[in-house]
Amino acid sequence: MHLVLIVGARPNFMKIAPIMRALEAFPGVRKTLIHTGQHYDPNLSDVFFKELGISAPDISLDVGSGSHGKQTADVLVGVEKVLQDFHLQGNPVTRLVVVGDVNSTMAATLAAAKLNIPVAHVEAGLRSGDRTMPEEINRIVTDSICDMLLVSEPDGVVNLRREGHPDKNIYLVGNVMIDTLLHQVTAAKGLSTLENFQLTPQRYGVVTLHRPSNVDHPESLQRLVQVLCDISHRMKIVFPVHPRTRRRLEEFGLWQELSDSPNVVCLPPLGYLEFLCLTSQAQAIVTDSGGLQEESTALGVPCLTMRENTERPITVSEGTSTLIGGDIEKLKRYLSEIIDGKYKQGRCPELWDGQAAERISRILCNQPVKPMPSEKS
Ligand code: UD1
Repeated sequence: MHLVLIVGARPNFMKIAPIMRALEAFPGVRKTLIHTGQHYDPNLSDVFFKELGISAPDISLDVGSGSHGKQTADVLVGVEKVLQDFHLQGNPVTRLVVVGDVNSTMAATLAAAKLNIPVAHVEAGLRSGDRTMPEEINRIVTDSICDMLLVSEPDGVVNLRREGHPDKNIYLVGNVMIDTLLHQVTAAKGLSTLENFQLTPQRYGVVTLHRPSNVDHPESLQRLVQVLCDISHRMKIVFPVHPRTRRRLEEFGLWQELSDSPNVVCLPPLGYLEFLCLTSQAQAIVTDSGGLQEESTALGVPCLTMRENTERPITVSEGTSTLIGGDIEKLKRYLSEIIDGKYKQGRCPELWDGQAAERISRILCNQPVKPMPSEKS
């Protein structure tokens, strides 16, 4: 059996790490890891390989940044060639494995499906219902041509059934991102990150923003900066700034105000462990990231999500996330609730137990697995 696994952008790395590790239990399975190079900055890519113990990619495509069309096309062409080369060398690929919802996920899936190579999608079935988000298009396209749909939460199963996928293709396996979190959280908490930035546990907020809807419009970004500066008088703010967001803050003349604010610590993007050290001991998280909604839920840290919708509704119904959208008054109100200790408690969803990758590896390697719950359960 020859599995080819794809990573491209930052959130892919913590999803692939536990799967690579779990596949070690199957020595007869050949694994090839392809890094598309969608993210290439060392602090968005290399640091994750090192910290998460992922072996260096067998193949790097170095596609880099570009418009959606160009980036998608470059991954498509690059992955297609690799898959064809393996075939010509007499080492055909049994199955492609993709994770998440980034452009690399969709493009690689398309390349394999056209070559009749079956594809497994880890994190299948998530839907925000918002087709203005590039990730939603990536999710729909990817799932529509995969035959092995590995789902992190029950809503994903419902969505896939509604779209007509047969039960034999759907596996509720849990959340691999939480595998990585549980594996690393003790080591992360042992770092000196809080002391380095003079932070007291439970007395600061962590902010991440990178979605075009939040950072590409001067007025919405300006309003967000204003709230963060205001609230920083009651709760220190730590803000690791994504390169895209940094560029926008500078373009819109907001960078100086934010970074000069005495209780706001602006940082470059952090590695996995330092970031987890911060989030796991935070009083609040403000974010538009998908993964962080899940991580905050697993950590039990209040999460205010700067999006109108979410493809991860369980983080709202069971977890610690509240959808804020672009409503700045709501953001202020909920931040005050958190500071005053009145915010809702959450619980960690079922199957977010650190064993998802083990379940996935058994399915990938054709080992017996528990049947899917029936429609009514
Ligand atoms: C991508 C994913 C998004 C994910 C996010 C995590 C898509 C459609 N989007 O968004 O789902 O949540 O990654 O970060 O796949 N850049 C750098 N260095 C890099 C990579 C990018 O500076 O290593 C800058 C470039 O200016 C680039 C911009 O960031 O144009 C956006 O990068 P891109 O990969 O297109 O999308 P993200 O916003 O990172």
